Amino acid sequence: MATLEIRDLHVDVAGQAGAGGHGESREILRGVDLTVAAGQTHAIMGPNGSGKSTLAYSIAGHPKYRVTSGTVTLDGEDVLAMNVDARARAGLFLAMQYPVEVPGVTVSNFLRTAVTAVRGEAPKLREFVKEMNGAMSKLAIDPAFAQRNLNEGFSGGEKKRHEILQLLLLNPKIAILDETDSGLDIDALKIVSEGINSYREAADHGVLLITHYPRILRNVRPDFVHVFVGGKIVEEGGPELADELEASGYERFVAAGATV
Ligand SMILES: Nc1ncnc2c1ncn2[C@@H]1O[C@H](COP(=O)(O)OP(=O)(O)O)[C@@H](O)[C@H]1O
Ligand SMILES: [Mg+2]
Repeated sequence: MATLEIRDLHVDVAGQAGAGGHGESREILRGVDLTVAAGQTHAIMGPNGSGKSTLAYSIAGHPKYRVTSGTVTLDGEDVLAMNVDARARAGLFLAMQYPVEVPGVTVSNFLRTAVTAVRGEAPKLREFVKEMNGAMSKLAIDPAFAQRNLNEGFSGGEKKRHEILQLLLLNPKIAILDETDSGLDIDALKIVSEGINSYREAADHGVLLITHYPRILRNVRPDFVHVFVGGKIVEEGGPELADELEASGYERFVAAGATV
């Protein structure tokens, strides 16, 4: 049973040298403690700028984010000592809030390369195409999408569906989804939610759903909700906490926590 454990994580982000900045680093995460086990869905909710994406990027191994203390382990293995590929092979999946455009690489190429890297061997082309088409139809993605350049000109909805397509094909042990719901209309939100639900029902997977808006949590019901303010978790509860946030916002927590 896979378990992701984050213990007292402190992370700095490098300041921009030159114009406006002084090149100093700033502490963004201030002691994050969180355990996500297989079969559980955790939601992290918090206001803009509270450090939610910083948490996702730090677990992903983005070079801009420097872990100054604390640990991240997956089944006891030190995630922070792994390079980015090793993190994916170990079973971690990170969907990014701002994916990069890669002209000249099609969605289909990219997905087959990613699947090969994670599984350790290349799937047979015909089987892969079948698998990909199956997942695409589940997510109501037009078949022509597979031949588009990666992330180039993707609409908000296409980016998010592409993330969930990766999730279904890579089938990681633990998925971290950062603002998967942003920029989606109601129909796309429903399809994306169904994709996440089919991933988490297919096997004992762990999901960490990072979101600013409570609405996705009506479709993807979390087992645990964590309120994130000022670079750390300031309150924890069950799904009813998401309902409270939907009704009253973050005000009561922001007043109690430090601002970044
Ligand atoms: N790459 C970066 N360079 C400079 N500052 C950053 C960077 N990433 C995050 N920050 C700063 O860290 C704080 C938290 O940002 P972020 O993690 O994106 O918050 P959230 O996802 O909760 O909106 C913000 O003040 C933001 O400006
Ligand atoms: Mg963010």
